[in-house]
Amino acid sequence: MSRLHNLKKFNTLAVDSSCERYLSIQSLSDLESLPRDLKVSDMLVLAGGSNLLLSPQINRFVAHIKPRDHIEVVDNLVVAWAGTSWHELVVWAVSHQLGGIENLALIPGTVGAAPIQNIGAYGVELKDVLVWVEIYNWQTGGYHRLSNEECHFSYRHSIFRYHDRPWVISRIGLDLRPNRPVNLSYPALRDKLTRNKKPSYADIAKAVTEIRQSKLPNPKELPNAGSFFKNPIIDQDLAHRLQKKYKDMSFFNLDDKQDMVKTSAAWLLEKCGFKGKRIGDAGFYDKHALILVNHGKASSEDLQNLSRAAKKAVKSKFGITLEEEVRIV
Ligand code: EPU
Repeated sequence: MSRLHNLKKFNTLAVDSSCERYLSIQSLSDLESLPRDLKVSDMLVLAGGSNLLLSPQINRFVAHIKPRDHIEVVDNLVVAWAGTSWHELVVWAVSHQLGGIENLALIPGTVGAAPIQNIGAYGVELKDVLVWVEIYNWQTGGYHRLSNEECHFSYRHSIFRYHDRPWVISRIGLDLRPNRPVNLSYPALRDKLTRNKKPSYADIAKAVTEIRQSKLPNPKELPNAGSFFKNPIIDQDLAHRLQKKYKDMSFFNLDDKQDMVKTSAAWLLEKCGFKGKRIGDAGFYDKHALILVNHGKASSEDLQNLSRAAKKAVKSKFGITLEEEVRIV
């Protein structure tokens, strides 16, 4: 009988989940031992598990990228192995006075997961500094580099989100520089640094860390996967109609789509009464409505039931369809 691998420890929502086919990966040579005949739909690449909602039984082959930090400078680019902790990369960069990712401090997960949803926070997105993504094709056994343009990045999106190719991200190359201008466009960050006329990259990373710690739950204390939904992008007509009715609703312009605006999913959820709402052990965090938390023994189904109820309420009150940011497998 084959052995079951328990994945509860490897997903930050801490739901019960297990799989039969499993390979632990810590290096390029481990990657190269992935079975070549696996179909894309038969594979799950699991890394930090911080953006996933796993079903109780995973019937796929699980390629588990184990944490191992490996960062080097090659041709003036900072190159990091996929299993490197994202936050450790930020710490490394600011300690070398290299700018570009300080606003992305304390984002959970690994370097290899970062391009998938183009991680972003406090006015900066990964796409602003990423030069290439190296992928390993487990069907051909070859490596290939995609340029920033080839990754098709946009808000919480990239070519990797389709999960339709036999690719595992192996390394990324970033353009981090000592003279990169700082980004203080996000009001909460600017407010926190008002007394500091010339904040260093380390000052910014520290301020971001403090803001995140004050409003986002630590998955080790209260299991969660960060923002459960994306902030919805809606057309200007709907935005105008809603603004007339709800004076405190905010909208943000988008660089790449002039006729659309982004609005806050947390605000929509709060207005529908979901902030702090709990059904059994599945709940929305009481200090931030965009975060689904597991108070103990919530299953994937419990969390999905609560998420479905929230989506339904937002749709019927505002006519807006929320889309999950978290990947449900
Ligand atoms: N708000 C509410 N109720 C709440 C929380 C927030 O109404 O309970 C409103 C407030 O008006 C606030 C606005 O929502 O001004 C935005 O809130 P916040 O600044 O916390 O940011 P967010 O839009 O909820 C996004 C990212 C976060 C990222 C922060 C900071 C998405 C889906 N989420 O959250 O990313 O850290 O901005 O840049 O884009 C993640 O992806 O897991 C994540 C945490």
